[in-house]
Amino acid sequence: MRPWQGFFPIMSTTPDPLNVALIGCGAIALQNHLPGLALCPNVCLAALCDTDPARLEAARRQTGAPQVTRDYRELIERDDIHAVIIATPNVTHAPIALAAVAHGKHVLCEKPLAMNAEEAWTMARAAEKAGVRHMTAFTYRFVPAMRYLAHLVRRGDLGTVYHFRACRLQDWGRRGLGWRQVRALAGTGELGDMLSHRIDFAHLLVGRIRRLVAHWRRWHDERGGQPNELDEWVAVLADFDNGATGVWESSKLATGHNESWRAPDTVELNGSDATFLYETRQWNTLRLGRPGGSHLETLEVPREFWKWPGSPRDPLQGDPLVTFRYDQIWEFVDAIRQQRPCAVTFHEGALVQEVMDAVVQSAESRQWVELPRPAQTGPAAHLTPPAAP
Ligand SMILES: NC(=O)c1ccc[n+]([C@@H]2O[C@H](COP(=O)([O-])OP(=O)(O)OC[C@H]3O[C@@H](n4cnc5c(N)ncnc54)[C@H](O)[C@@H]3O)[C@@H](O)[C@H]2O)c1
Repeated sequence: MRPWQGFFPIMSTTPDPLNVALIGCGAIALQNHLPGLALCPNVCLAALCDTDPARLEAARRQTGAPQVTRDYRELIERDDIHAVIIATPNVTHAPIALAAVAHGKHVLCEKPLAMNAEEAWTMARAAEKAGVRHMTAFTYRFVPAMRYLAHLVRRGDLGTVYHFRACRLQDWGRRGLGWRQVRALAGTGELGDMLSHRIDFAHLLVGRIRRLVAHWRRWHDERGGQPNELDEWVAVLADFDNGATGVWESSKLATGHNESWRAPDTVELNGSDATFLYETRQWNTLRLGRPGGSHLETLEVPREFWKWPGSPRDPLQGDPLVTFRYDQIWEFVDAIRQQRPCAVTFHEGALVQEVMDAVVQSAESRQWVELPRPAQTGPAAHLTPPAAP
């Protein structure tokens, strides 16, 4: 892989360059998206946008991008920019994405896709109508062990699915969370921040949710000297369409578990023929339980799953808990070049948003909530990732 600091050519001169603009130059843009772009041959970082001048200047110095602006509209009006990556606070995703697709740009947008399902489906429909590639950044689908697990489930190794169980535990202490603690900017707290990925896991591995009941809590009304308006813990209990049950728990207050992506993040599936236990930090193994067995045994993830199909990444280079994230941009770029749907589209983002809306409704009303039926909401989801090579 190329180094990613200051390497970007001013503008590619080869016949088929893909010029990409990055909107939002914060933490995730620098950690995931810039190295991902660096992985892709013949892709240029043509422009950067951030409303914060200091962040914009830092990113410009880091990348050498030829255009910087504080107004995304300047970028999306340019004919020579083909695609945009949106890595801004949640409330800005829909307006930026809708403006970008209206100008014919391919869009990779961070999760949660929008502030509610209506907004998310509007984005999905607009992107389809414009004929552009659209992708939601459900990054953890790119963990090798998750992709292998999806493959085993699709192959039928689980038998009848009984239970889906996801748990995400982190310790964010009492620190300030910036826009993440403001309802008008983030929509929800732990729900959109962390649980959204785990709802997507459930869609990938089990299918659609029929009904759910949820509970959420906030302990700290103030963080970093500012009001904290949002949930710090959320739990959900659900029935899937196929009869399986689901349980999710996600917390920012799991003291001692640390704040990083190395903190516990597990999914367990119990079926008639097997149990599979996934842990993000065990990126190249799963645990397997067999009927009548006394313990779970370790299952190695085969080598062909260690990176996304076609990705030029060397899976033995760098920290594997970080580098799998770069395959997400590879997939976006490859889908644009192959003129095929991205593996995780806005539809998946909107389906998760529907479940999030139901979680909010349930937590606020303390009632079970039925999910909308597919006909009411939009196109069927592409619930399976591409097969391994
Ligand atoms: N996929 C993942 O695993 C993952 C991980 C972390 C964050 N995220 C998502 O990425 C998004 C950004 O999160 P982050 O942690 O990078 O936040 P951040 O606060 O570090 O960065 C956001 C950046 O956007 C800029 N910004 C705000 N409004 C803007 C606008 N209108 N136009 C241009 N720039 C604007 C801010 O100045 C800031 O630099 C969020 O939606 C978050 O949920 C996803």
